[in-house]
Amino acid sequence: MNTRGFHIAVVGATGAVGQQMLRTLEERDFPIRQLTLLSSARSAGKTLLYKGEEFTVQEAKPESFEGVDIALFSAGGSISKQLAPEAVKRGAIVVDNTSAYRMDEGVPLVVPEVNKEDLKKHNGIIANPNCSTIQMVAALEPIRQSYGLKKVIVSTYQAVSGAGAQAINEMYGQTESILEGKEVTPEILPVGSDKKHYQIAFNAIPQIDKFQDNGFTFEEMKMINETKKIMHMPELSVAATCVRLPIETGHSESVYFEVETQGLSAAEIKNKLKEAPGIVLEDNPDEQVYPMPAHCVGKKEVFVGRVRKDLDEDTGFHMWVVSDNLLKGAAWNSVQIAETLIEMELVKEK
Ligand SMILES: NC(=O)c1ccc[n+]([C@@H]2O[C@H](COP(=O)([O-])OP(=O)(O)OC[C@H]3O[C@@H](n4cnc5c(N)ncnc54)[C@H](OP(=O)(O)O)[C@@H]3O)[C@@H](O)[C@H]2O)c1
Repeated sequence: MNTRGFHIAVVGATGAVGQQMLRTLEERDFPIRQLTLLSSARSAGKTLLYKGEEFTVQEAKPESFEGVDIALFSAGGSISKQLAPEAVKRGAIVVDNTSAYRMDEGVPLVVPEVNKEDLKKHNGIIANPNCSTIQMVAALEPIRQSYGLKKVIVSTYQAVSGAGAQAINEMYGQTESILEGKEVTPEILPVGSDKKHYQIAFNAIPQIDKFQDNGFTFEEMKMINETKKIMHMPELSVAATCVRLPIETGHSESVYFEVETQGLSAAEIKNKLKEAPGIVLEDNPDEQVYPMPAHCVGKKEVFVGRVRKDLDEDTGFHMWVVSDNLLKGAAWNSVQIAETLIEMELVKEK
């Protein structure tokens, strides 16, 4: 541990996102003076490694945040509701991975490549957007900047790690059972707390999170509302269909969008994506080059391919967007927010 740097707390350190958060902090050589790892009482006392050093996980309590500079939360919405204000009260800046504060006025919802200036308006809590929203807006922003944006229709192909460590275990367990010719008893997916559960192995489930009165799921509404907030475009037309697939990690999205500018070619859209920060263009149909989740796991960037002009609508284009949902979709975007806070001198060492 360094003598200089920040006191960082990771809330939900034992979870799917928390584990990636630790790996990302380590890989980025984040300036850490003190590290506090928090979980529920269930995991308190466990040890986790950071840069080869053992750290004991503690139960998250209000007093855990004494002296903390930056608290990275990924322990579920109710924990964020309960403990993020306690962390702020004690002088910490919270970067929250849950949906608890995302749509609150006064809480910046940030993808650094798109709207880092919003960080200046924070009141202690900064929200990390939903994983599927992050990769989509990162890919749309360079296009919007040059050509404007009118409409977005997205269909997602989402990995089970987006539903947490238990969902990953459920997918593997079911796969083994089915291969052995045994019955499966789904318990977690699509939504642990919903009435019915369905097999995810060898299946596609068109429900992520609970249904709302308008027929969309909460995940779909997150993509719609968060995109408008991050891009500061309440008038943008957005629709989403979110589907869970038996893939461990890496969300994919088929995105149809319409720009304001007439007469553009796919090559012009590709050129903007090629130059954009955090985006890797993998697009060569002749050589069968396109992004796939299996190739994106463990990488921080957002990968884009299959860029085509629509055959009927002059301002319409299609693209395929893939990213590691636990990295750019969660841990990396949070750590990137923390790095940007330092860069913009919005956080100081205590
Ligand atoms: N997975 C994703 O792609 C993704 C992306 C963006 C945002 N998120 C959000 O991040 C959050 C966590 O997701 P996950 O996938 O990492 O879930 P997960 O694998 O189930 O992990 C949950 C974590 O929260 C901790 N926790 C549970 N109850 C707690 C309590 N009462 N007090 C303190 N800590 C508690 C758990 O600790 P124990 O070990 O003690 O149980 C564990 O560390 C969720 O809100 C999710 O919506 C997830």
